[in-house]
Amino acid sequence: MGGRKREIIFCNKMGIMIERYFILPKDFGFTKFLKTFESKAPKNYIYTSEINYIIDYLYNWIYDVHFKGIWIAGGTGTGKTTLMKIFFEVIKELNIEFCFGEDNNEVHYKLYPKMTSEKEINNYFAKCGEIPQRRSLFIDDVGNDCKKVNYFGNDSLVISDIIYNRYDKLETKQYLFITSNYPLNHPIIKEMYGERTQSRLLAMCEYLELKKTNFRNM
Ligand SMILES: Nc1ncnc2c1ncn2[C@@H]1O[C@H](COP(=O)(O)OP(=O)(O)OP(=O)(O)O)[C@@H](O)[C@H]1O
Ligand SMILES: [Mg+2]
Repeated sequence: MGGRKREIIFCNKMGIMIERYFILPKDFGFTKFLKTFESKAPKNYIYTSEINYIIDYLYNWIYDVHFKGIWIAGGTGTGKTTLMKIFFEVIKELNIEFCFGEDNNEVHYKLYPKMTSEKEINNYFAKCGEIPQRRSLFIDDVGNDCKKVNYFGNDSLVISDIIYNRYDKLETKQYLFITSNYPLNHPIIKEMYGERTQSRLLAMCEYLELKKTNFRNM
């Protein structure tokens, strides 16, 4: 187990290929992944069957090198933000990086998504007129602060700009992690961000749901 798993993500007419792969610790396996997860989770963290399924899924997501990021949907208090926070701590602890480029010209990136909420992203844009360009980006609570943000007369639906930007440019086409109270294919997402954004999101994210337990009410 462990080592490198490759996928070719681009091949141009000249036959030049760009590959991407995760670089995993030598002893990377499910047991180690789960132990690390448990060590990063709060002491009173409850492992429901739904959560166990997602942990399993996240392990496979790293191990199999998926092209897509992840969208986790579910009602309020179902543990989406907590689960993603633990997952990113695990990635950090295991020091997982991914590699991008041709064999002799490899560029390495740590897979450390920075936590941001839609609100924070909107504030960031309002301050400097730019959208975050991180290779792996985590946006918590998409759909909860959907509004046009103005920067010196430029109105922008910031999340849609980010999606377009990442979808259109191969070199920035990287992992996007999202939590939301809405399913990815929900009409509200289309209404809020437009059909073209939703269709790009569908192409860019794998879809998971956490819906059974409201831990906030426990
Ligand atoms: N598996 C779990 N076991 C026990 N407590 C949990 C678990 N997951 C989350 N919690 C607790 O439940 C509360 C809500 O969790 P969290 O904020 O992650 O939910 P959420 O799905 O992100 O909600 P929202 O949609 O409102 O953002 C937090 O206090 C968190 O510590
Ligand atoms: Mg949340």
